[in-house]
Amino acid sequence: MALDSAAIRRQFPCLQARERLTYLDSAASAQKPESVLQTMDAFARREYASVHRGLYPLSEGATDAYEQARETVRAFIGAEHRDEIIFTKSTTESLNLLAKSWGHATLKKGDAVALTLLEHHSNIVPWLQLKEEKGIEMVWIDIDDEGRLKQDELTRALKKGNVKLVSVTGLSNVLGVRPPVKDMIAAAHQSGALVAVDAAQLVGHHPISVRELDCDFLAFSGHKPYGPTGIGVLYAKRSLLRAMPPFLGGGMMIREVHRDGFTPADAPQKFEAGTPPITEAIGLKAALEWLGSIGWKDIETYEAKLMETAYETLKSIPGLHILGHKDPAGVSGCVSFVLEGIHPHDLTDLLGQEEFCLRAGHHCTQTLHERLGITASTRLSIGLYNTEEEIRALGLAVTRAIKVLAT
Ligand code: ALA
Repeated sequence: MALDSAAIRRQFPCLQARERLTYLDSAASAQKPESVLQTMDAFARREYASVHRGLYPLSEGATDAYEQARETVRAFIGAEHRDEIIFTKSTTESLNLLAKSWGHATLKKGDAVALTLLEHHSNIVPWLQLKEEKGIEMVWIDIDDEGRLKQDELTRALKKGNVKLVSVTGLSNVLGVRPPVKDMIAAAHQSGALVAVDAAQLVGHHPISVRELDCDFLAFSGHKPYGPTGIGVLYAKRSLLRAMPPFLGGGMMIREVHRDGFTPADAPQKFEAGTPPITEAIGLKAALEWLGSIGWKDIETYEAKLMETAYETLKSIPGLHILGHKDPAGVSGCVSFVLEGIHPHDLTDLLGQEEFCLRAGHHCTQTLHERLGITASTRLSIGLYNTEEEIRALGLAVTRAIKVLAT
């Protein structure tokens, strides 16, 4: 049965409360369905306690719920073991954990990390920090004008033999393109390099199987797949986690602490110092279950239709240039564009006054914008609550805005 978008939309209290709102900024953060909000509220009101510390039933129940959330994440991304799932606060923290733990312990001067020009700053800056600190090299894999990765550049880089990690987005937060991650992983592994996937955008739009991909690391946040902020995930293969030193020090990440040193706990606790985001983990579980209840086939079909409408609408506007792919095939989640002679901030501000919520700027991808020869763009990004009518209405609003701004 096809996805019932009106029924889905009714499950989002924010969109019900603001009837005129056209929310086209889900790539920044998605709205939350009632089931996520209610689950978090009920947990916080009646079941909340600290986890892995209390010897009383309330805490034991909270610990069970927290660990069940870990199990839900494991199943959702097809990981083999529950202890391969580390809860963090965001994709950004997950990628920092990777760089500051695995990267710091493993990489030495002259080793290289390969990144694509599609990457978000959160998958660039931690590696630049390691470059400053340890003298590692950065290898940049270029894209063509449609945002397709130049795979021959990755092949050449891998041949040099010093690339120890390829860190790549699963879905660009600007162009909506998906690099051929599975092929990249196979090529990297043949050269002895590991691969990290930044799945921040991918996770809400397409199914993920870390086992099928055979990626070594994968990061995402809770708030993109309709869950709460303040919770993120780092997946890493068990053997890698065993060798990685802790990232943050504090309570619960230790086996023993003495005046002259400490021994860390096993993963995942080794990487979860301090009181974790408990209610948020419960909310993430609810969000992943909510997505699961809809089903990937219907999600992909519906969102592909929305992207077709977005392309058709935007392409019909004179002076509007879509960045990346010139047709919607293979584009998911978002599309970015520029208007001749009009700054993206001016356009997006005017659209905001009509309650169209889009993002303008470099979207934390300055290197990509430099590659495209621009400093900023406007981004339209979709969620399951959006409709084709909303996108067509946005097209009319852009046309109205051009009349105002071009005079
Ligand atoms: N990474 C998020 C975005 O692209 C915040 O908007």
